[in-house]
Amino acid sequence: MKKKIALIFGVTGQDGSYLSRFLLKKNYVVHGVKRRSSSLNTDRIDDIYQEPWIGNKKFILHYGDITDSNSVSKVINEVLPDEVYNLAAQSHVGVSFMIPEYTSNSTGLGSLRILETIRNLKKKKNIKYYQAGSSELFGSSKQKKKNEKTIFHPRSPYAVAKLYSHWITINYREAYNIFACNGILFNHESPKRGETFVTKKIVRALCRIKKNKQKTLYIGNLNAKRDWGHAEDYVEAMWKMLQKKKPDDYVIATGKQYTVKQFINITAKKLGISLKWEKKGKFYLAKNKKNNNIIVKQDRKYFRAAEVDDLLGDSSKARKQLNWRPKRDFNKLIEEMVVEEMKFLN
Ligand code: NAP
Ligand code: GDD
Repeated sequence: MKKKIALIFGVTGQDGSYLSRFLLKKNYVVHGVKRRSSSLNTDRIDDIYQEPWIGNKKFILHYGDITDSNSVSKVINEVLPDEVYNLAAQSHVGVSFMIPEYTSNSTGLGSLRILETIRNLKKKKNIKYYQAGSSELFGSSKQKKKNEKTIFHPRSPYAVAKLYSHWITINYREAYNIFACNGILFNHESPKRGETFVTKKIVRALCRIKKNKQKTLYIGNLNAKRDWGHAEDYVEAMWKMLQKKKPDDYVIATGKQYTVKQFINITAKKLGISLKWEKKGKFYLAKNKKNNNIIVKQDRKYFRAAEVDDLLGDSSKARKQLNWRPKRDFNKLIEEMVVEEMKFLN
């Protein structure tokens, strides 16, 4: 049987690296689009990549940029994949307040560039499309457990851009009959998580503090609640969406939530650090009970212009229709992140 071909935009990111591995195991030929950067950006996928002349024809990289229509069109027409996964985005919510225009261009219009190419292929093929949607779409929506029917209220340039991508995906599905799905994924983490997202930042800092390589972790809002899952579990859901008979949109979540403060406390406990929280003026700090050193300090710099306080997902549709469920729980996730970080530091 002919091998299926997948094309991943955002292959160098956390999810791209897990999805590549997942699809390779499923015997796909995987093509990935990486953008040009002055320092190498392929460390998450270096172990599965070999230069083409060595003979690896299963994992192939192309240069391209989601903000450049020509490159998007060229790579899709050249590869003619069965499935396209659009994971490429300026994906940091906090940073999106600083670069809103670029965020709109990549996180918003990027999806349109891919969908337009699929619609106008030079050689006809029914390419399936996955759009990396986000629980950030729900923003300040008051419904406690968010599902596919919950009203959106985006709270950042990032979330507004994702809202555009969400609706343009539905629009191309309805208008042109393209097999296009939105995965509305709640936060998912892993040892491969980018260093400036809160989970990785906490794990890295506390491990470094444990090893006497750093003194303090500076942090923003401690009360934000998130529904945190494991990236490896979530990429399976992306693939499952594209294997259905009909395209649809699905919420992917664990259904459990924790605060940023709880994440810090549990991580510290796993490292044998006991924390004592105190309020100083407007901000909180945490001391190491053993020696009174200040380990965690709130800093104005890490607060956002508009915050999403409370995210909790209801993924019953995906559990029922895709037979998907998360395999790792919150504790296992932190455990794995701590173990890998300690290995890295050692
Ligand atoms: P990530 O680690 O930040 O990866 C983003 C990827 O997009 C990277 O490969 C990045 O390339 C690439 N990229 C950024 N701008 C690009 C451009 N202009 N052209 C081409 N590629 C570009 O994000 P992630 O955590 O894997 O998330 C994957 C997707 O899911 C993103 O769209 C994100 O918004 C969305 N999402 C993530 C979560 C989550 O909790 N992780 C939840 C919901 C939705 P470089 O490596 O060169 O930077
Ligand atoms: N990054 C960061 N850094 N966040 C902090 C910090 C800090 O120092 N201190 C507190 N936080 C809070 C943020 O304000 C937010 O409420 C929460 O921790 C989580 O922040 P992030 O880890 O940056 O993730 P996010 O929830 O904003 O966005 C992630 O998840 C979305 C899905 O809900 C990203 O992966 C998005 O791309 C994704 O769409």
